[in-house]
Amino acid sequence: MSTLLDFVHEFVPGSSPRTLLLLHGTGGNERDLLALGQSLDPAAALLSPRGRVLENGMPRFFRRLAEGVFDLDDLKTRTDELARFVVAATEQYRLDPAQLIAVGYSNGANIAASILLLRPGILPRAILFRAMVPLVPEQLSAENKADVLIAEGERDPIVSRDEAHRLAALLRQAGAQVTLHFARADHSLSTQDIDVAQRWLAQF
Ligand code: MLT
Repeated sequence: MSTLLDFVHEFVPGSSPRTLLLLHGTGGNERDLLALGQSLDPAAALLSPRGRVLENGMPRFFRRLAEGVFDLDDLKTRTDELARFVVAATEQYRLDPAQLIAVGYSNGANIAASILLLRPGILPRAILFRAMVPLVPEQLSAENKADVLIAEGERDPIVSRDEAHRLAALLRQAGAQVTLHFARADHSLSTQDIDVAQRWLAQF
């Protein structure tokens, strides 16, 4: 564990040029998604920061006012802060920014979606597990050429089908190539999610 730009994080070197940026869900930490990252791509380097917001002691990447109701000012600030961390960590660990793939779960997927929408060019690829629309930017130009997999659960009580389609449409409007998948699951990840993500990754 080390700190860089105030983000507690884990970095696990890889044997391929690819890096997975692992972004945990509410109440998680920098170690939470390491096993998931290793199962998605055992050769990739893993970069895993801990969210800097605490909600009743539970780390998150940005503040929320209620379930699914986000503090948009905080979200924008935290999006910039995380984007700066990603750029700095990429330099410090000599990673290839073109080979960076965000893998976010729930709150981590939401901040990854926010980076895709507000800071095009930082994340060339992203896997968003159980993601929602984090915010709708005031201006949206189709300059984000990212490849994005949105992996939702068809019985998710937190993320509705409509919400998932709205996120896919918004990212497409922003210029991303989006694949939307619904697993036979709820908000928790299932083996089907891992299979779909592995197959999606294999095309790059
Ligand atoms: C969560 O519990 O993390 C929410 O479902 C998503 C969020 O608040 O970003």
